[in-house]
Amino acid sequence: MSTRDKVLLAFHDRPGRSLSGTALARQLGLSRTAIWKQVQTLRRQGIPIQSDSKIGYRLSGPPDFSLTDFKSPRSLEGWLKVHYEVSTATTQKLAKAGAQAGLPEGHLWVSEVQTSGRGRLARLWESPFGGLWFSLLLRPALPAGKVPPLTLVAALALAESASEITHQNIYLKWPNDLVVWRHDRWKKVAGILTEMSGETDRTDWVVMGIGVNVNNAIPANLTEKAMALRELYRHPPRSSAVDDDFVISRGKLLSLFLQKFRPLYTNFQRNGFEPFQKRYWARYGQANRSVRIQTTGGEIHGTARGVDPVGMLIIESRRKRVHVSEGEIVL
Ligand code: BTN
Repeated sequence: MSTRDKVLLAFHDRPGRSLSGTALARQLGLSRTAIWKQVQTLRRQGIPIQSDSKIGYRLSGPPDFSLTDFKSPRSLEGWLKVHYEVSTATTQKLAKAGAQAGLPEGHLWVSEVQTSGRGRLARLWESPFGGLWFSLLLRPALPAGKVPPLTLVAALALAESASEITHQNIYLKWPNDLVVWRHDRWKKVAGILTEMSGETDRTDWVVMGIGVNVNNAIPANLTEKAMALRELYRHPPRSSAVDDDFVISRGKLLSLFLQKFRPLYTNFQRNGFEPFQKRYWARYGQANRSVRIQTTGGEIHGTARGVDPVGMLIIESRRKRVHVSEGEIVL
């Protein structure tokens, strides 16, 4: 473990409290100047450490160290290999480099902070401290054309895991967003970006990038459209108050997701998306509601009626049904 990570971990047992430079230096066997330098590095990398000449250092924001401590679940040993980063540009880049270097599937890159997180449609993805940002390398034994609905399967496993952990209803928004209904509107809590390389008859690699707003702050310009799972516990609902020390364990969420996803992934490779159609639709937030979808070919309006056996969204408009393969639902 690097000195930088040791300094970050020193805040582990002191949630919300301050640590003096002297105490930190003694604990880690370093000089105060060395501690100060590591704190500067962590700060530059996006870790919110405050300092006060009288009190010392304090990690601001809800403390959750479940990723540094992450242990692979038993059932995934031998398949899962987790690479932990404090800060990186985007875990997609690390995973794609791993794919190109020939690593087998099951390698996963997770980072506390991403400085250039990427979303679908070439958007930026804000990835501050406290969220769950990871990319999983897969090598499905499938022709490239059969891979796209795998993202829907991952979204399903993620929504089920997040609901189980939070005891709240987390819904799906086609194709691969997770949303919650709060304050009379849908708010996004997670998204998936899948990138792949392959040919007609085979797939070389798939990198599934998953971002979940868990304990992180949502930037002010996004609060209308997005929220973090932790905020689901606000009391009363519209206030900004959530107990400072209350955190959702990102490690537990990651572990549960992977344990749920792995058998679904095996089933998907054998049987495609068909076995998941009903289960996906049962969690669909806008089932039988009127929706508007922006596709590359223009806008489609209609009523969402289901997903077909290859994961396309079925829209009914003027008594006709169309199957939509790509696009984004406007909320
Ligand atoms: C979306 O637009 O909804 C997809 C967001 C995907 C974000 C995740 S966070 C981990 C991985 N690294 C990235 O840069 N993006 C994905």
